[in-house]
Amino acid sequence: MCRWWSRRSSMDKSTLNLEIGKNKIGIISIDQPDTGANVMNENFFHELTDILEDISTQKLNGLIFISKKPKVFLAGADLQAMQSSIGDDDKLRQLIEYGQKTFNDIQALPFPTVAAIHGVCLGGGLELSLACDYRVASSEAATKIGLPEVMLGILPAWGGCTRLPRLIGLIKALNFILAGRPYNSKYCKKLGIVDAITYKDQLISKSIELINKGTREKKKDLISNLCSPIISHFAKKATLRKTKGNYPAPLKIINVVSKGIKTGKEKSLLLEKDAFIELVNTDVCKNLIRIFFLQEAAKKLKYDSIIKEKISKAVIIGSGTMGGGIAQWLASRNINVLIKDISIEQLSAGLKNIGNLFVKGVLKHKFDRPAARKSISNISVTTDDITLKDRDILIEAIAEDFNIKTKVLQQLEKRCSKDTIIATNTSAISISELASKMQRPEKFIGIHFFNPVHQMKLVEIVIGKQTSQETIGRAVEFVKSIGKLPVVVKDSPGFLVNRILLPYLVESIRILGIVGDVERIDKLMVKFGMPMGPFRLLDEIGLDVAVHVASDLADRLDDFNMPGNFDTIMVNKEFGKKTGAGFYTYNKGKRMEVNDNLVSQLQLSIEKEYTDEKIVNELTQVMVDEANKCLYEGIVDSSDILDFAMIMGTGWAPFRGGPIQFSKK
Ligand SMILES: NC(=O)c1ccc[n+]([C@@H]2O[C@H](COP(=O)([O-])OP(=O)(O)OC[C@H]3O[C@@H](n4cnc5c(N)ncnc54)[C@H](O)[C@@H]3O)[C@@H](O)[C@H]2O)c1
Repeated sequence: MCRWWSRRSSMDKSTLNLEIGKNKIGIISIDQPDTGANVMNENFFHELTDILEDISTQKLNGLIFISKKPKVFLAGADLQAMQSSIGDDDKLRQLIEYGQKTFNDIQALPFPTVAAIHGVCLGGGLELSLACDYRVASSEAATKIGLPEVMLGILPAWGGCTRLPRLIGLIKALNFILAGRPYNSKYCKKLGIVDAITYKDQLISKSIELINKGTREKKKDLISNLCSPIISHFAKKATLRKTKGNYPAPLKIINVVSKGIKTGKEKSLLLEKDAFIELVNTDVCKNLIRIFFLQEAAKKLKYDSIIKEKISKAVIIGSGTMGGGIAQWLASRNINVLIKDISIEQLSAGLKNIGNLFVKGVLKHKFDRPAARKSISNISVTTDDITLKDRDILIEAIAEDFNIKTKVLQQLEKRCSKDTIIATNTSAISISELASKMQRPEKFIGIHFFNPVHQMKLVEIVIGKQTSQETIGRAVEFVKSIGKLPVVVKDSPGFLVNRILLPYLVESIRILGIVGDVERIDKLMVKFGMPMGPFRLLDEIGLDVAVHVASDLADRLDDFNMPGNFDTIMVNKEFGKKTGAGFYTYNKGKRMEVNDNLVSQLQLSIEKEYTDEKIVNELTQVMVDEANKCLYEGIVDSSDILDFAMIMGTGWAPFRGGPIQFSKK
């Protein structure tokens, strides 16, 4: 067997430990030294190969894989090792072959094998589990099972594309692999990936029960086999609709999985390997892996300060779009949340939206009903001017108006304790100017969530001139503790993301005045890779809010000019989705058609020669120029952080790597 990695010395601490009980059942416990995670690196595979060689000579009754980590079963392949091998196809082939051979060896063992899963089981971790006869998973929320390779522009190539469709059928396997997200044990049991669910401390006894059933009979899946061309055709159509052809991995996955199920296992593994080598060399894959590492860095961001105890109690001021979204997210992360608004009507509307978010979360298997109920019990509401001294943090999310915010924040500060962090969710108002009106400006900071809160992972932490190091450190820890990705930005007009986004939205209105076609511009930018076109985005944000923020930016930035037709978007008082019409009309929140009423008012001249390419070039160039200005002004520390923030805060074409990376091409 050729070895991809060099063998480590026997002095190294081991990751895998085999114990054989009196019942002749082997238990391989996984516990990578000096880390909270278990990743599949060189040492892991060497040790596993050695153990498999060792037990091949022993007459065991069964074998169980279990992790000793509190929250991780196996987090998947060592991406750093993989990344460093990109460009060396021979090395990559060895990497894939080594994993495939090892998992084939597990599958070939002459006694039943079980993966006893508690905690994160992703990518290669699930592929190892699929090579076992059975999978038993803990019922705890920490257990999350998935194949996230597609998110990195690659595919599961250690047998995932081969074994999963043979286990659960082609359609379910394709959906699972293409989704690339982790699911809870209950859903995996429903799919047939997991055979049994039990409490964490009963994983071993449940595994022994399964071993006693003997090795598993392999079923022939005739339906998947016969229908694979039709299934593949429809899957490709749906994928192209979603990706606009910008991502090669999903199409490759469909090809490999649907062809693989019709051939023998060996041929299918070969297809996996060839597709992996092809995908890993694409720019898309390189950009997605870069973003993955930036995301990991944001999760580990440390700010140099002494951190007091964890933030566990928050008060949110305002239960509107943002306040409600923030409250729902915090409650789902086990933070005790008090929501304060000016009337019972506003609070009821806010609570209704929060309830809907929990219902959607349950339907999408993000959490189960008991977890949703427990989260809701973390929320209380008030309209009264009660004491807020027990709150670790206050997050203000009321109207975007300097005078109103100042007045409300000054009153609230008096009711907080001297340790309470006071944060504003303002989109663009100066943090330093707001702080200057407070009694404790050192406790004041911008914590800027993005809309919709439950989907957007980025949070900008905006530092005012007077914000103390301790407040910054606590804010960073707080944002990480609720599972969001912090990016620390300098206080400046529009901070980072809006500073780059608003000029693009304003430019789209200028171009609309020339080409007069809302749908054409929207479609072009979606094809470019934005999650939605600029006019749909304006309707989502609200035209009144966009005009307000853009005007503020234009007042504070020297070279940001508004086009002549910009104010016109407000004339009909049609502010977007929330009023039933903006650039499009809406019926019960569903987008209907272009609102000609508004478009006709914006038209300045029609230029037939404005090509699609010119439109996309001009719209992207505005963002690239503004991004470069932000770097020059030191709004963030590096182009990596800037690209990362734009992708996580706006969905900016991830496969292009962010505006700065894109501009280098
Ligand atoms: N909407 C977005 O996409 C978005 C995104 C990021 C940041 N922001 C910022 O978040 C803030 C809130 O925006 P929104 O869209 O949620 O507004 P919204 O109009 O949906 O909600 C504001 C809420 O604040 C309440 N409120 C007003 N005065 C209050 C007071 N004195 N005490 C308690 N509650 C009060 C209102 O009743 C309302 O429920 C703004 O600063 C905005 O710029 C908005």
